[in-house]
Amino acid sequence: MSRASPLKLSALSVIFRSMLDWKKVPKPIIALAPMADMTDQPFCRICKEIGVPYIWREMVSAEAIVRGNLKTRAMTEISEFERPVIQQLFGNDPARLAEAARIIEEMFQPDGIDINMGCPVRKITENFDGSSLMRDPERAADIVKAIKGAVKTPVSVKTRLGWSKDDEILTFAKVLEDAGSDLLTIHGRTKEQGYSGVSNWTRIGQAKAAVSIPVILNGDVVDGAGAKRALEMTGADGVMLGRGALGNPWIFNEIADSVGATPAFAWAGTRPAPTLEDRISTVLRHAHYQIERYGEGGLVKLRKHFPYYFKKELHDRYPEIDFVALRSALVRVSTYLELEDVLSHVIPAN
Ligand SMILES: Cc1cc2nc3c(=O)[nH]c(=O)nc-3n(C[C@H](O)[C@H](O)[C@H](O)COP(=O)(O)O)c2cc1C
Repeated sequence: MSRASPLKLSALSVIFRSMLDWKKVPKPIIALAPMADMTDQPFCRICKEIGVPYIWREMVSAEAIVRGNLKTRAMTEISEFERPVIQQLFGNDPARLAEAARIIEEMFQPDGIDINMGCPVRKITENFDGSSLMRDPERAADIVKAIKGAVKTPVSVKTRLGWSKDDEILTFAKVLEDAGSDLLTIHGRTKEQGYSGVSNWTRIGQAKAAVSIPVILNGDVVDGAGAKRALEMTGADGVMLGRGALGNPWIFNEIADSVGATPAFAWAGTRPAPTLEDRISTVLRHAHYQIERYGEGGLVKLRKHFPYYFKKELHDRYPEIDFVALRSALVRVSTYLELEDVLSHVIPAN
C-alpha cells in the first residue's frame, strides 16, 4: 500500500483543520509563552508531547520576514504535531506587519498570529517595536486592523500593564479589542518594571472585566496552585507560562490537573513530579529533536536549556546527586554521545 507523503498529509490537515475561535475554545486556555531563543520548534515539541495545549512561538521580525530572510522565515515553520501554534511578530509598521503575517500564513498556516506589544528590551523599544506600541495606541490599533485585513487566522496581542503606569492597560485593552484583536495576553508588569516586582494579577483581572474578548493571564505562574489562584482571582480565560516551563515541561500537566483542564496529551510518565529518569529521557529526546532540526551543531544552542532541567530545587530531592558537577558538564557537551555519556554518569557526591 502506498503511503501519503508528509507534504500531502500537511496539505490535508490544512484543509481539514478547523479555524481557532478564541471565544469558543475550551477554557481555561493553557499556553506556553513565546521566549526568544528558547521556544523554538524542538522545545515546543517537547512541551506539546508532555501536555501543553497551545504554543506561542518566539517573536520574529516582520521586516526580516518581508525582506525574505531565510533564517527568520525558517523560524516560523510548523510541524503538524505542534499545533495549535500561534506565531508572534514584532514590528511597528502596519503594512509591513500585515505583509509579514500574510507571507507566514501562506507558507506555514499558523493557527494564529500574535503581535508583540510587550517586549521591554532596549534593542526592540528603540525601534518603536514591542512595548513602545503601548505609547502609541492609534498605531497599535492600525496594526491590529491591518493584520486582520491580511489574514484569515485569528489575530491576538501580547502586552503588558503599561509603559510606566500599571493602569494604562484598562484603556489600551479596549483600544485593541475595538481594533479587532481576537484575544489578549497580559503580562502583569509595566515596561519600566522589566522583570522586577511581581506580576499584578489584580490589574489583569480589571482589564479582563473591561473587555469582552478572552484574556490570558501571564507572569509569575509557576505551579498548579498558582494557576488556580490566578484564574479564580481574575476570571481570566487562561494562563500562559514562560520561565516556569523552562526545564519543566511537566508543569502543564500539573496545571491541567489543578484547574481541571484537559491536557493536549495525557503524559504517561510519573506524576505529579517527574523522576530523575523522566528528566534524563526528556533531555535526550529534546537533544534528538534539536539534532533533527539543526544538525548535531545545534546541541551547542541547546546547552542553555540544560541547567533548567537540573536546577537547584532538585538538590533536596536527590541529595546524593552532585548537580553542580552535572550542570557544569552539561554546558560543555557538543555531541549526542557526549551528552549520553554525561547523563549516564549522574555523579553521586563524594
Ligand atoms: C528568555 C525570554 C525570552 C522572551 N521572549 C519573548 C518574546 O519573544 N515575545 C514575548 O512576547 N515575550 C517574551 N518574553 C516574555 C515572556 O513571554 C513572558 O511574558 C514573561 O517571561 C513573564 O511570564 P513568566 O513569569 O511566566 O515567565 C520572554 C521572556 C524570557 C524570559
